[in-house]
Amino acid sequence: MTAPLAAATATAHANIALVKYWGKRDADLMLPATSSLSLTLSTFDTTTRVELAPAGGSGEVTATLDGAPLTGPALAKVQRFVDLVRTRDDVEGDLAGRGARVTSVNTVPTGAGLASSASGFAALAGATAAAYGLDLAPRDLSRLARRGSGSASRSVHGGFVVWHAGDLADPVRGDLTSFAEPVPAAADLDVAMAVVVLDAGPKSIGSREAMARTVATSPYFPAWVEHTEVDVAQARDAIAAGDLAQLGEIAEASAMRMHATMLAARPAVRYLAPASLGVLDAVAGLRASGTGAWATMDAGPNVKVLCARVDLDAVVAALEVGGDGGRRRVLRALPGPGLAVTRG
Ligand code: ADP
Ligand code: DP6
Ligand code: CO
Repeated sequence: MTAPLAAATATAHANIALVKYWGKRDADLMLPATSSLSLTLSTFDTTTRVELAPAGGSGEVTATLDGAPLTGPALAKVQRFVDLVRTRDDVEGDLAGRGARVTSVNTVPTGAGLASSASGFAALAGATAAAYGLDLAPRDLSRLARRGSGSASRSVHGGFVVWHAGDLADPVRGDLTSFAEPVPAAADLDVAMAVVVLDAGPKSIGSREAMARTVATSPYFPAWVEHTEVDVAQARDAIAAGDLAQLGEIAEASAMRMHATMLAARPAVRYLAPASLGVLDAVAGLRASGTGAWATMDAGPNVKVLCARVDLDAVVAALEVGGDGGRRRVLRALPGPGLAVTRG
């Protein structure tokens, strides 16, 4: 008998928050200051393969992304993540501590505010856990993915997803209770997202650092935390009731408030570009002409527009034409699936 191949491949899709996560209460355990709620997309994904080195080797963890070796902080994040898995008590003796080769491909632009860390670490969580022989329930996969990047906890699931802040009283209980799960939705809630790609290049300051600066210096941060839990509850109700207008209004307000909170940091964190504001005008124009469309923006200048699936073509057509007559690049997305893992 040959030993089973200790390898696995996983695919996860990016998700866009409708009620944003912005701020951690525990940076080591990656516990968020608030709950958040998102939509996993059909476009933009990561596929990651993890292959273990034979036992008795150096234990080194190497990684490539889109064919190029990862180095520096990006490699360190992957190595820390693999360490988290391979040192667990439930990894069997002959697999524990083994080195690994990580090969990842993003169809999502990396570091552009289009949620590559979400699809990236959800896929890494699925592939790493399976390669080291773990068979984790979705809740535990979500908790694990959270340790790589907070938003990755949500990409374990498809469609509408809520990530619970978890027990605030103590970190051990918080770690156990901060996971994401699907949100029950009305059967007739048929949504889509138009993604306006203004700049697919990497942002000047990563989400993690920008968030930490906001928590440390923005006087608006406590108000942000207070309102966000209310927004999550109301967004859940809107999804259950199939009330797209209510969901859209909450989503747009959450994005605006998140950006207001970071603009109030010192030094200010500003991701929105002049072109982003042009898209916001176009979205307001769509609404004024009777088409339901609501904008949300993350840690980058790109704008995502929530609408009914039947309106997607009209929304895309309206957004493609810039105010100055130029063309914008607009991608179509529908609700997408959760994490898929293949062993071997
Ligand atoms: P984004 O808006 O794309 O999520 P972040 O600043 O949150 O931007 O995260 C970008 C970082 O996430 C990258 O610099 C890299 O460290 C990590 N990342 C993205 N994709 C992957 C991947 N497939 N595998 C491992 N790490 C990834
Ligand atoms: C603006 O999950 O990328 O997209 O947890 O530090 O890895 P880390 O940050 P990340 O932050 C996402 C921020 C956001 C809003 C959201 O996705 O909820
Ligand atoms: Co991210």
